[in-house]
Amino acid sequence: MKISIVGAGRVGTSIAYSLLHRKIANEIVIIDKNYEKAYGEALDLYHGTSLLKRCNIYAGNFQDLKNSDIVIITAGAAQKVGETRLDLTKRNYEIIKEISKEIKKCANESIIINVTNPVDVLTYFLWKELDFPKNKVIGTGTILDTARFRALVSKQCGVSPASVHAYIVGEHGDSELMVWSSATIGGVNIKDFCKVCNRKNCRNLRDIFEETKNAAYTIIEKKGATNFAIGVVTAQLVESIFKDEKKVLTPSTYIDGIFIGFPAIVGKNGIERIIPIEMDEFEISLFENSKNIIRKQIEEIEL
Ligand code: LAC
Repeated sequence: MKISIVGAGRVGTSIAYSLLHRKIANEIVIIDKNYEKAYGEALDLYHGTSLLKRCNIYAGNFQDLKNSDIVIITAGAAQKVGETRLDLTKRNYEIIKEISKEIKKCANESIIINVTNPVDVLTYFLWKELDFPKNKVIGTGTILDTARFRALVSKQCGVSPASVHAYIVGEHGDSELMVWSSATIGGVNIKDFCKVCNRKNCRNLRDIFEETKNAAYTIIEKKGATNFAIGVVTAQLVESIFKDEKKVLTPSTYIDGIFIGFPAIVGKNGIERIIPIEMDEFEISLFENSKNIIRKQIEEIEL
């Protein structure tokens, strides 16, 4: 499998590193406007392949997108302290537009994964600019948020993250929501789990959701950016496509004319099916609010 990563920053290189450990690709090209940086990152990563899986990983330019099975876009400005993801829209829209032109020239059979924030808005514009089928343009959406929540609940409740079935949906951002009504821990509805659990001094799970929603702000304050978890998340998305695992994840996918995080089956054809999970009235209203926030941001760019 050939994978191209556009952007040799912390996120792009973390994705490459995660992909190497999953032994998915036999060719990875890293493309960046700073070729020397891409060269150094690719060389450093290549040296580790002898202990993992043979993989030709190299720095390239946009012509090297040719024959990519998957193109992953990470280029663009990252959130700084005090910035929201939506604050990045105008700057990163221009970058996405340029990258779309290059993809159309030599990678129009690839599946596109967008990571660049605001991921829902920019995945929409990628889809519009590329005019690709909807199932082949995917944003990382709220897969990371859902992973964060499962990790935090797992730690508090002493249950494997794999047994925490809970989805965060909506904007990958401040308007995201937890679908409490269909969330379970070990098969027990999440709202009832605490009654049957004997652990003491636990935090309210709603506080854990708030911590999840604000996780990026915390991490950016401490270390300046986030990269490792989004690297793992993106590699998992690639693996579900490459191995046709048909995992249910919450990528940013096409719903009601926009792209937004929602449970969907991810396999060899990209987004294969949306899973219509149950939401209660309040959750539906929050989801509609999140859709409107994304829609408004799209309209501001399209003005
Ligand atoms: C985060 C970035 C990927 O939430 O938006 O860490």
